[in-house]
Amino acid sequence: MRVATTPTKGAEPPATRHPAPILPAATGAVTVCHRTATAERTPPRPCGSGGWNNPNTDNRKGRQTVMNNKSYRIILVLAAGMLSALNSAYGAAGIVGSKHDFSSQAWAKNEICIVCHTPHNANTSIADAPLWNHTMTAASFTVYASGTMNATPGAPDGASKLCLSCHDGTVAVDSYGGANGTTIMTGNALIGTDLRNDHPVSFVYDDSLASTDGGLHSPTSRDSGLGGTVDAKMLISHKMQCSSCHDVHNTAGIGKMLLKSNEGSALCLTCHNK
Ligand code: HEC
Ligand code: HEC
Ligand code: HEC
Ligand code: HEC
Repeated sequence: MRVATTPTKGAEPPATRHPAPILPAATGAVTVCHRTATAERTPPRPCGSGGWNNPNTDNRKGRQTVMNNKSYRIILVLAAGMLSALNSAYGAAGIVGSKHDFSSQAWAKNEICIVCHTPHNANTSIADAPLWNHTMTAASFTVYASGTMNATPGAPDGASKLCLSCHDGTVAVDSYGGANGTTIMTGNALIGTDLRNDHPVSFVYDDSLASTDGGLHSPTSRDSGLGGTVDAKMLISHKMQCSSCHDVHNTAGIGKMLLKSNEGSALCLTCHNK
């Protein structure tokens, strides 16, 4: 299962929410996650479950020793061609050049990860915040509620709180590493602190909720289509979070950084039995 915590929101919907970016889109080079060919891009997380290459199983290693340099190079060129074909169908996969690549901004020190993560002195105040470096939101949120909801969303926690530390508009995008930035998000990507109009997040989605609700698939047996069950691949510490639908690193290169395509509402139907 993925690791994260609790809280808040979801949003999905309306096709009408595209905003006007305030930040110049980083232009971008296509990223190719190193081991990522088609078969390996199924898992929602980059480069294997944890996002790391496993030196013991990475079969490219053995091949290199067997092939001479020239044939290896030809294969690389072919592979690169196939990947760019894929990328043009899906959009560039990976964080490089995505809306979360701020490296072209003067304040980002030509780096990508640093705006959100740091190898040292990370903020440990939020559960499931991996080596977090961005200033955390202190806002209070109004959460989704409805007469037909069975779950009770709590205040945004875990990964959702991390997202909202830029997407609620109370913290500047360039406030990280202890520095106070000034670039506040605007436009459609701005979710705000009123989450009543967004898909609920930050609540446990388990088999008991599925059976009470009657219109949800069992998260522990439903295949997510991402290489494991809904619980394993879409929930974090068994909770619905922003990351249940989105991949902040844009690993698969699907529009709106979705975990999987929503064509035919496939994303929604992964969980909802309608
Ligand atoms: C249940 C699935 C789901 C959850 C949970 C969810 N989203 Fe989304 N989100 C979507 C879908 C689907 C879209 C694309 C909608 C479209 O293209 O009209 C989207 C679009 C977006 C956009 C792009 C808006 C635009 O028009 O440019 C942002 C930003 C976003 N979501 C942020 C978040 C944040 C932050 C959270 C958590 C607080 C979250 N989402 C939770 C499904 C979800
Ligand atoms: C460091 C600040 C920051 C954090 C943290 C952050 N985002 Fe974003 N996100 C942005 C900015 C800035 C944009 C671009 C806004 C624009 O173009 O106007 C963006 C864009 C997006 C988009 C639109 C992508 C597209 O291609 O249109 C989605 C979806 C999104 N973010 C989801 C998330 C989710 C989910 C999380 C947490 C898991 C998250 N973001 C965390 C700053 C952040
Ligand atoms: C815009 C913010 C943002 C940027 C930029 C970003 N990350 Fe993350 N990252 C997150 C969030 C939020 C999570 C935890 C929630 C999740 O997985 O959705 C996370 C989780 C992770 C994790 C642990 C879970 C996993 O997916 O493996 C690793 C490792 C990671 N990031 C590495 C990186 C690296 C390396 C970079 C730079 C190339 C990077 N991230 C850039 C926001 C970001
Ligand atoms: C990862 C699983 C998952 C995905 C993907 C997902 N949902 Fe949900 N959704 C849930 C859960 C769990 C609830 C809480 C249901 C409850 O407690 O009654 C929920 C709640 C809702 C609700 C509120 C129900 C109410 O009674 O008020 C709506 C509407 C909804 N989802 C629509 C969507 C749409 C549309 C999509 C696709 C864009 C989507 N969901 C994607 C899991 C998911």
